[in-house]
Amino acid sequence: MAIQLVKPQKIFLPSYLEALQEGTFCNMALGAFADESAEEISNNPDEYIRRANDTSPRIVQLPDGSEYTVTDHELYWLTDGERYIGSVSLRYAGDKELIEEFGGHVGIAIRPGLLNRGYGVRASALALQLATTHFKRRGIDKIFVTCNPDNSPSKRLIEHSGGKLAKEKSDAFGTGPSLIYVINLQ
Ligand SMILES: CC(C)(COP(=O)(O)OP(=O)(O)OC[C@H]1O[C@@H](n2cnc3c(N)ncnc32)[C@H](O)[C@@H]1OP(=O)(O)O)[C@@H](O)C(=O)NCCC(=O)NCCS
Repeated sequence: MAIQLVKPQKIFLPSYLEALQEGTFCNMALGAFADESAEEISNNPDEYIRRANDTSPRIVQLPDGSEYTVTDHELYWLTDGERYIGSVSLRYAGDKELIEEFGGHVGIAIRPGLLNRGYGVRASALALQLATTHFKRRGIDKIFVTCNPDNSPSKRLIEHSGGKLAKEKSDAFGTGPSLIYVINLQ
């Protein structure tokens, strides 16, 4: 099967659990949902899949103590049909500070065991395709993405996606410096 983005589903859960054992890992849900431990997931896999697919509004707590809401969002998993490879989060609507200045409209993470093998580039191309359809349907044709200035892989992905630097923040809500890029959806 070609590499594709799919909604989180039980068939890939064993592979997702393996990914959690590989090292520090971010599921791209902004710490707001579906970030249960491997043990919690194993105890109730159906509930985990339900939460990972739950698009209802979520409150996100940022490291400086501020709270914002993402009101419309979706999580996708990148897979080759056999394995969970990574996560893509699309954040369509919510507090402007959260979306435009913290997490961005799109978040991408590749599992630790598969980093630096080109999956990030594949994921961002697929994410951009999906984003173009889903954001435009909501009347959005310009999206924001963010990264830490030291995060070279992320900067490269954003540049590959046509991102143009729009703003730099010296401290993004207690997480340190942040670069904010804009991507015009074609
Ligand atoms: C950002 C991330 C998704 C990139 O995924 P990846 O599969 O490792 O990336 P790729 O292998 O496709 O490489 C992407 C680019 O980064 C470069 N790169 C990858 N790893 C690198 C590293 N450790 N140091 C420097 N450059 C690196 C690659 O050379 C490539 O650039 P190029 O095409 O110009 O050569 C991944 O590092 C990740 O999951 N990071 C944690 C979460 C995160 O920070 N997400 C971004 C915020 S939205």
